[in-house]
Amino acid sequence: MKKIIAIFGICSLIFACTSSEKSESTEDTSTVAVAAPVDTTSTAATASVGSAKGEQLISGSDCLTCHKVDAKLVGPSYIDVANKYAATDANIEMLAGKVIKGGSGSWGEIPMAPHPAISTDDAKEMIKYILSLKTN
Ligand code: HEC
Repeated sequence: MKKIIAIFGICSLIFACTSSEKSESTEDTSTVAVAAPVDTTSTAATASVGSAKGEQLISGSDCLTCHKVDAKLVGPSYIDVANKYAATDANIEMLAGKVIKGGSGSWGEIPMAPHPAISTDDAKEMIKYILSLKTN
């Protein structure tokens, strides 16, 4: 009888070990699965991650008081901006600079307010999002 109990004990120990190992290994694969798309498809993934971040930054700033995605308000609609500029590094840099320093003359006489508190990186994320709205 003692033997049976001992075997039982060992079995349940082994079972406990294997099952906890199992749950660990599922965790491992899920971490790998989450990390993998960022690594492998770096350009596509960065672009979409970038524009999602830019969208968040824009809704967290005052941009939407003057800009709408698809209609002119005080400033041009973001779709108009996206259709005017190709998403090149030079344009992203130039437009990010305009967001930070303010600007006028591209769309009319009304100037865009400067945003000195926005970092260059954040401004670039915003511009990447805006330029991703291109429709033509
Ligand atoms: C006070 C109103 C106002 C706010 C706030 C504002 N904009 Fe503008 N924005 C404008 C106006 C007006 C223009 C057109 C300027 C021009 O004609 O050059 C403009 C132009 C732009 C352009 C195009 C620049 C060009 O040279 O073609 C971008 C990109 C832009 N805004 C992004 C943003 C972002 C991002 C924010 C938030 C951080 C923002 N704007 C906040 C009024 C605003």
